[in-house]
Amino acid sequence: ALLPGLAQAQAAYPNRPITIIVPFAAGGPTDVVTRLVAEVMSRDLGQPVVVENVGGAGGTLGAQRVAQARPDGYTLLLHHIGMGTTPSLYRRLSYDAVNGFETIGLVTEVPMTIITKKDFPANNLAELVKVLRERKAEVNLANAGVGAASHICGLLLQSAIQTQLTTVPYRGTGPAMTDLIGGTVDVMCDQTTNTTQQINSGSVKAFAVTTSTRNAALPNLPTAAEAGLPGFEVSVWHGLYAPKGTDAAIVNRLSRALQVALREDRLVARFAELGTAPVSQEMATPEAHRRYWQADIAKWRPIIQAAGQYAD
Ligand code: MLT
Repeated sequence: ALLPGLAQAQAAYPNRPITIIVPFAAGGPTDVVTRLVAEVMSRDLGQPVVVENVGGAGGTLGAQRVAQARPDGYTLLLHHIGMGTTPSLYRRLSYDAVNGFETIGLVTEVPMTIITKKDFPANNLAELVKVLRERKAEVNLANAGVGAASHICGLLLQSAIQTQLTTVPYRGTGPAMTDLIGGTVDVMCDQTTNTTQQINSGSVKAFAVTTSTRNAALPNLPTAAEAGLPGFEVSVWHGLYAPKGTDAAIVNRLSRALQVALREDRLVARFAELGTAPVSQEMATPEAHRRYWQADIAKWRPIIQAAGQYAD
């Protein structure tokens, strides 16, 4: 009696709109990636794929929403490196941050850029480091809360220059970018999916890209190593998740739709304009994503414990 019902549910899936929760504010890098992927997945799945922004607490509020959602394949989470860092950064989460999700597949790995408001008194990374060391807590560093990619990149920057700045948290680097352009905050480390256009239009000033090679969308921007911060490397992997207990047939159907999206020409071209690229088809599988995610948790734990930066 059970099997026909289950088989029937699988056969019909999806038979109504799917929601992907973005755990940061609209207009930021995670939102941009998700809306591009959702549009193509929707065509493959034959149902609307709606993006809902649930910001706050460095992405953990949105993750919690999905961890506690019905495991029926209609509420998903598109998140990033924060799924690797928050298990160590937060000591009291109301969901299982290590194992409370089914992995559907990796999506993309996005480089980061160190940027300031356009009239900040520095014109290269050496000058920026000098001014940051002089002004210390007078400088406002924007991020998207403890656990955001912009937070971890800001931590790495402050430890590289041995200087503590003042942190101004936002519900995403979309709203943070508005204030950086407006000049009410000074510096940010954010993903090329949110900064490429602003850098190329001159509305912010860029100092380095945080990958070992230069970025094709920002060819004149030196790497952090070239500009004087060797070893400063961080890029932001993104993955798609479902609540723990979601049926494997549904997870696999979603992974196939994700793989279709990641090889769609216009999505690939748009990712390239934004300084990034989709992962390979084999990395967009549940198994590869789970291995990568669990290894990332293990990678960040000692780094975060050494830095002593916790959120309660
Ligand atoms: C981040 O720093 O993780 C970004 O803010 C994420 C986002 O806003 O999309």
